Amino acid sequence: MSNVVEERIENEEKEDQTVIMSEKYQGDPIPVPGMLDDTPLFNDPMEIVRDPLDLTMKAIEKYGKIVYLKSTNSYIVVDADFLEEMLIHNEKYFSKSQETMDKISPAIGNGLSTLIGHEWKRQRKLANPSFSKKSVSQFFEIFHECLDEMFDEWDKNDTSIINITTEMKRLTLRIVIKCLFSTDIIKFSNDVTSALEILQEHSINNLWAPHLITESQTKAYEEAKASIDAVIYEIIAHRRENGNEGKNDLLAMYMSAIYEDTNEGMSDTQLRHEIMNLFLAGHETTANGVAFALYLLAKNPEVEKQFSQEVDNLLSGKKHPSMEELKSLDLTARIFKESLRLYPSSWAMSRVVTHNYRYKNYVFPKGADFIVAQWGLHRISDYWDEPFRFDPDRFLPERFKDIHKFAYMPFGAGARKCIGVHLAEAEGQTILARIGQRYHLQATEKTAPNTKAKLFMTSVPGIELQVTKKTKRA
Ligand code: HEM
Repeated sequence: MSNVVEERIENEEKEDQTVIMSEKYQGDPIPVPGMLDDTPLFNDPMEIVRDPLDLTMKAIEKYGKIVYLKSTNSYIVVDADFLEEMLIHNEKYFSKSQETMDKISPAIGNGLSTLIGHEWKRQRKLANPSFSKKSVSQFFEIFHECLDEMFDEWDKNDTSIINITTEMKRLTLRIVIKCLFSTDIIKFSNDVTSALEILQEHSINNLWAPHLITESQTKAYEEAKASIDAVIYEIIAHRRENGNEGKNDLLAMYMSAIYEDTNEGMSDTQLRHEIMNLFLAGHETTANGVAFALYLLAKNPEVEKQFSQEVDNLLSGKKHPSMEELKSLDLTARIFKESLRLYPSSWAMSRVVTHNYRYKNYVFPKGADFIVAQWGLHRISDYWDEPFRFDPDRFLPERFKDIHKFAYMPFGAGARKCIGVHLAEAEGQTILARIGQRYHLQATEKTAPNTKAKLFMTSVPGIELQVTKKTKRA
């Protein structure tokens, strides 16, 4: 072996043993809590498949803010100081896991949310302008149009019992389709809703329990994927043929964007991946955020009354309130924030460490997997007073300033923070406000959150609410 090769191997070995230390910690490393636990809860891989939310809370209650979970060989983290290091200061040592992304991207697309490294950076740079506050402002008309269509359905009865989760998913999918393609394809949106459910289900099964996937599920997955692909490629082909003139939608923005390094645009295949990513990331998350907010309002009549007064007073019965008017709704904004605290649509994020890494007295080996669990982070008393109480006022500036900056991250943090945050906030608040102007929401005997952690957190079979037209309010 040449000296150069020997030297390189020696250097690589040295690098392998390097321990990145976030601070100078005293004392010997100690095992991460949970390492020695051999109870079925922590060792049976089916526990995380059955109920990851419950498992997360039990792990934190028993062991604290960093817990080793033997069944998945990963670490649950809800320690806000550590998350600040992981996502901001030492972000270069933590990446999304290639293994995890490889398992989910066949179903949800190999786009912005699943790409890693240089490829991700390139896509993010290209996509950022399409999601700026300014770009988002042009989508308000779409929110209003889609809401009007939904209200036409709801108004057929003075009072109806509805599955608010399903309704919100339909609405936000219709919105994202219009924002992407500026076409109204209702039939398409109904087909896509069920196909997307299948793809999401498949990606999570592929991640946690591939051995449980049946032949009929694989067949359903392949059919769902083929049906969505057919529609997406048809739309792209049609646009390539007819050009983007007069189109102000996301597809036009994506198609006209040029990579700095090659001076070329996005290929059809990459466009397809990005669209798939946006379909899922862009509708399911916002839909659940709003559905849980409406559930919380129905369960908390005092807050619902104040909310109803705010939208009545500040929007003065306007059918299509402007962006500025919607922005003035402080309580509505706080309700959406508090709902995303208690029911974060993104209930967890995954990261892998690229070097041996020491935090406090724990040393995590290179390649260790982390589950950054917003579900737990948002619900622990270390950071929140009465964490299970629905209290939108905790987001008043004078109270929120005392909360750890990294104890609340429904949209993530750092370089990979949600690109759709402005769109989601504008959309979520518009939907809430317009529903609040028009309807009064009440819980029924069957109303329950029915939380279910899939790729995102949702409600199965959905949240039932009674919706009454406001003029009929007693
Ligand atoms: C309430 C609604 C939403 C929530 C709670 C949410 C949450 C998140 C979170 C936590 C991440 C970061 C994941 C990570 O770091 O591992 C993320 C990323 C992402 N979100 Fe959202 N999201 C929402 C709405 C949207 C919307 C409306 C869109 C687009 C139409 C969108 C598109 C994306 C994309 C493309 C990424 C990947 C960004 C990247 O890695 O560069 N999201 N989202």
